[in-house]
Amino acid sequence: MKTIEKISIDELDGKRFKIRLVEPIEEKKAILTHYLHNIKNVNEHEYQKDALQFLNEYVVYKEQEENVSIVAEQALQQLLFEVENVPFPTPKNYTFKFIDLFAGIGGFRIAMQNLGGKCVFTSEWDKEAQKTYKVNFGEVPFGDITKPYVKKFIPEKFDVLCAGFPCQAFSIAGKRGGFDDTRGTLFFDVAEIIKNHQPKAIFLENVKGLRSHDKGKTLETILNVLRNDLNYFVPEPQIINAKDFGVPQHRERIYIVGFHKSLGIESFEYPKPIEKKVTFANIKEKTVPPTKYFLSTQYIQTLVNHKARHEGKGNGFGYAIIPDDGIANAIVVGGMGRERNLVFDHRITDFTPTTHIKGTVNRDGIRKMTPREWARLQGFPDKYIIPVSDASAYKQFGNSVAVPAIQATAEQILKLIL
Ligand SMILES: C[S@@+](CC[C@H](N)C(=O)[O-])C[C@H]1O[C@@H](n2cnc3c(N)ncnc32)[C@H](O)[C@@H]1O
Repeated sequence: MKTIEKISIDELDGKRFKIRLVEPIEEKKAILTHYLHNIKNVNEHEYQKDALQFLNEYVVYKEQEENVSIVAEQALQQLLFEVENVPFPTPKNYTFKFIDLFAGIGGFRIAMQNLGGKCVFTSEWDKEAQKTYKVNFGEVPFGDITKPYVKKFIPEKFDVLCAGFPCQAFSIAGKRGGFDDTRGTLFFDVAEIIKNHQPKAIFLENVKGLRSHDKGKTLETILNVLRNDLNYFVPEPQIINAKDFGVPQHRERIYIVGFHKSLGIESFEYPKPIEKKVTFANIKEKTVPPTKYFLSTQYIQTLVNHKARHEGKGNGFGYAIIPDDGIANAIVVGGMGRERNLVFDHRITDFTPTTHIKGTVNRDGIRKMTPREWARLQGFPDKYIIPVSDASAYKQFGNSVAVPAIQATAEQILKLIL
């Protein structure tokens, strides 16, 4: 008879394990891990029924398929151990609850947990990002937040809603848009969740370009919905630069915060830039595998040629060489359409003395920054595990938030609501 040693969340893959659940099979890890995270507190009923049904079916499945002897209680303890032994567990004596929407790899979550918050629901549909999220927080995010069966798992009460939602235009020709005009966009889903759950505070993050998006109409609609339809006090949004909060990255993002009007809050102060200035040298990796990140001379020539061809055409193609005492440009990996060619553009390179490097590397010792350096540029601590390929890691950190800037702003929010 086999032992139960190998039971793990990752085993529960839909291909081998066919259980008829009301929810699509891919949500099962999310249900189970959310349950395990909330097992010791009052939220547990939110996930309990589905999670226990699932766990029991899992145990039966294991016994039938692999001739193992398991009882549900043992399996539960093992899985509990797995979700709790992670680099970023829930703080023991948490003081508030939040939800993490469009969670990516959990930049908001690190900041909110650092301030004593417990995450009670998370959603992120990208499978690679879910993988990174799970190894670091012990929780698998739910998938598509637009789906009612996902939304129904959001606990009724929580204090802060966090969301770095993708920016989309609303089709509101000529008029100031309201709640219904935003239907069909991801902001609508955020607004609907706010309407149904009425958190004390909301904290939204977006690209700086949201201000000018659709000639300013997108932001105007968002503010109108939050202030007038949803009844939140929303001060003027602020552009916050990551470099002002202790990371060597020039990254400007728009932050929108709001407080339920019933709290009577009428003013809010965004955080002041901190004095400490850091440069690339502060986050630079000391040893980097020579063949992996150093660019060939030929490749550098290709970049130079591309840059020369595209310069002045307004599409931002280019690259920057960051000296040790400089700071990086915003890290982003180009995605769709005309931006596709930008991938290398933003893999900021830096000078490293050639004398340390032998072999095929370029004459000037120019290399890409490593995923760990990108993590540091966003203020992710070194205990943050990067379990995915470099290509995925660049995408994930590029999409993420600058944790210290988020944390400084969240601290200001919490001062008013706790
Ligand atoms: C700008 S990123 C946010 C990153 C996050 N703040 C972090 O710290 O990593 C937006 C995320 O929303 C996710 N997303 C987009 N549409 C979604 C949907 N319908 N349901 C769930 N996640 C979605 C994307 O996969 C992406 O990771």
